[in-house]
Amino acid sequence: MRIRRISGDERLTTSFPLQSYAFDKSPTEHAVSQHYRDFLPYHSGNHTLVAEEDGATLATVAAIPMQQNVRGAVVPMAGVASIATHPLARRRGLVRTLLNQLLEEMRDDGNPVSTLYPFRPSFYARFGYVTLPQHRTATFSPDGLGSLLRADLPGELRWRRIADGYEDHRALTLRLRDQLHGFATFPDYRAVSLRDDTKWVVTAHVDGEVVGSLPYRIEEHLGELSADTLLHTGPHGRALLLSFLARHADQVDRIKLALLPGDTPELWADDLKVETTADVRSVGAHAPMARVLSLEGLEGIAAGPVAITVDVVDDALLAGRYHLDGTGGTLLVDRTDAPAAASLSAAGLSALVYGVLDPVEIGLRGLGTIPLEAAEALRDLFPVLPPYVCAEF
Ligand SMILES: CC(C)(COP(=O)(O)OP(=O)(O)OC[C@H]1O[C@@H](n2cnc3c(N)ncnc32)[C@H](O)[C@@H]1OP(=O)(O)O)[C@@H](O)C(=O)NCCC(=O)NCCS
Repeated sequence: MRIRRISGDERLTTSFPLQSYAFDKSPTEHAVSQHYRDFLPYHSGNHTLVAEEDGATLATVAAIPMQQNVRGAVVPMAGVASIATHPLARRRGLVRTLLNQLLEEMRDDGNPVSTLYPFRPSFYARFGYVTLPQHRTATFSPDGLGSLLRADLPGELRWRRIADGYEDHRALTLRLRDQLHGFATFPDYRAVSLRDDTKWVVTAHVDGEVVGSLPYRIEEHLGELSADTLLHTGPHGRALLLSFLARHADQVDRIKLALLPGDTPELWADDLKVETTADVRSVGAHAPMARVLSLEGLEGIAAGPVAITVDVVDDALLAGRYHLDGTGGTLLVDRTDAPAAASLSAAGLSALVYGVLDPVEIGLRGLGTIPLEAAEALRDLFPVLPPYVCAEF
């Protein structure tokens, strides 16, 4: 078996057929090739590896070079995707080998973190990933938003095909990425797949600035209007977008959209009947996961005013002893021989950096050995700070 990095058209005959078999309905050969030819440009900058044997492609993994806000700093992030093994070559360790190599190469290319959506979280937990909060979805009837139609809202709405409104939408996602911990954005070559879609987008503008954006499609007359995330910079943008949705009371029965963290739809209007859910029950609806690939690459993220030495264990990418210093307000990282106050697995360290578990929980979950005093220091260094990974990732 040999591992090879592929690019360009080669994907059509190597990685795409495996992905197609793994993720699509059984289509006709013609439909597959056209679909994937159309899709090819959106993969152009991906870091794709394949495992080959006797001229056949047996497994594939890929990483999208993304950007992510980690505790206030925007850093390169490897978005792992397109993982599939030939049905007759599964459980031979092919993806284990490929993924380990991919993560090492992405770390060496300057990506200190990686994020993915798992088919099964326990599978990726073994690769050092930890689960992040699932985005929440709200479903409601536009009837309940009627009061917003009478409100005097500053600013204006623009309603366009996504092809025409894409630049405004993209500008807002980049702005939110700079502000929100966890928010991740695609590189341009991949982000434009949204521009080439057939959705509508409504954008909210105040003083010439985009303050809200919502791509959506109407699934059926008197049925559902299904939208991406209600993206906004604050109450003005949100209220403008909601007033737009209110205008659909006689056109659709319900609206379904994803929420930014902190949005509580039950507070949007008095008579709004809304159900808010975070669903992680099925394959395809799992919460995102993330891991640290390089601690040195995270220098500069916001950190609390303490310093501590920790061992990171059982991980080919991270294993070692580190002095972590947040006394200047941002993280400084040094390799050291001084005694360590705690020991962490890659997933335990990732849980701290992403702000999803308390040090005590890390110990209880078997992701580290953390004495009480060290737990206090780590809690101060990396306070719990739930990240938000954009639902459209
Ligand atoms: C999931 C999939 C990619 C695994 O590929 P694979 O080459 O069979 O995986 P490996 O043999 O390298 O397995 C790595 C480890 O995970 C375990 N594993 C493999 N498939 C697993 C599964 N479905 N559930 C739980 N564990 C699994 C293996 O036992 C192995 O454990 P070990 O390291 O202790 O030996 C493959 O089954 C597949 O293509 N599935 C359909 C597409 C898919 O779901 N892709 C993932 C998208 S996120």
